[in-house]
Amino acid sequence: MSSAMGAGDEVRATAPLIRIRGVTRIYDTGRVEVPALRGVDLDVDEGEFVAIIGHSGSGKTTLMNIIGCLDRPTDGTYRIAGTDVHDLDDDELARVRSRTIGFVFQDYNLLPRTTALENVATPLLYQGMGRKERLARAKAPLERLGLGDRLDHEPSELSGGQQQRVAIARALVTEPALVLADEPTGNLDTASGEEVMAIFRQLNDEGRTIVLITHEAEVAAQARRQIHVRDGRIVE
Ligand SMILES: Nc1ncnc2c1ncn2[C@@H]1O[C@H](COP(=O)(O)OP(=O)(O)OP(=O)(O)O)[C@@H](O)[C@H]1O
Ligand SMILES: [Mg+2]
Repeated sequence: MSSAMGAGDEVRATAPLIRIRGVTRIYDTGRVEVPALRGVDLDVDEGEFVAIIGHSGSGKTTLMNIIGCLDRPTDGTYRIAGTDVHDLDDDELARVRSRTIGFVFQDYNLLPRTTALENVATPLLYQGMGRKERLARAKAPLERLGLGDRLDHEPSELSGGQQQRVAIARALVTEPALVLADEPTGNLDTASGEEVMAIFRQLNDEGRTIVLITHEAEVAAQARRQIHVRDGRIVE
């Protein structure tokens, strides 16, 4: 164990999937420094379903970007699956990201003019998989999410709820240890939002670790643990 271990660390049989200690993130705009995270400690174990909830501007997306290896802390440590992101260069970080994490965003982030099947197959490209195998693999998560009859539809030919299900299928196609979702129900009507949350609960029942970010209490209440962020800090 390193000398970086501090109060609150305990000996465990297995390391948590996510271990965040004393993380700060200061945005330097050139004119001002914005402290978006001010010392965050957070552990998430494998198999958890955690909602991170907080008001607009509290630091949720900043925290998600760090958890998702899209950004690095200004200070403090972040270990994902035992690896300290501080020790990784940008390419290695991208590799951890594509192997370990499936992302779901509020606005789906699907490729336009590209079929559902091709969209879901995209993350496999970065694993160097051939086209035929990619498309074959992409079919199962789409079928599982009830889109077996929409494989050849482009995003503009799908409803919002269907597009988000394509995005979830895309997040799952690499079998990631972690599904990380930022306001996944934010653009959806109530029924489609509930459908998406039901999918997350089912995935979690099957053992998938899910971290979801939301500003809606009703959405957060459907996770198994809630983490409240206020002013860049986690509050109990
Ligand atoms: N690139 C940036 N440059 C400067 N400041 C930023 C940047 N991104 C975010 N901030 C600031 O950091 C703080 C946290 O922003 P963040 O986007 O993490 O909030 P959020 O909780 O996700 O809010 P929302 O619910 O509106 O999405 C805010 O004060 C915001 O203005
Ligand atoms: Mg946000």
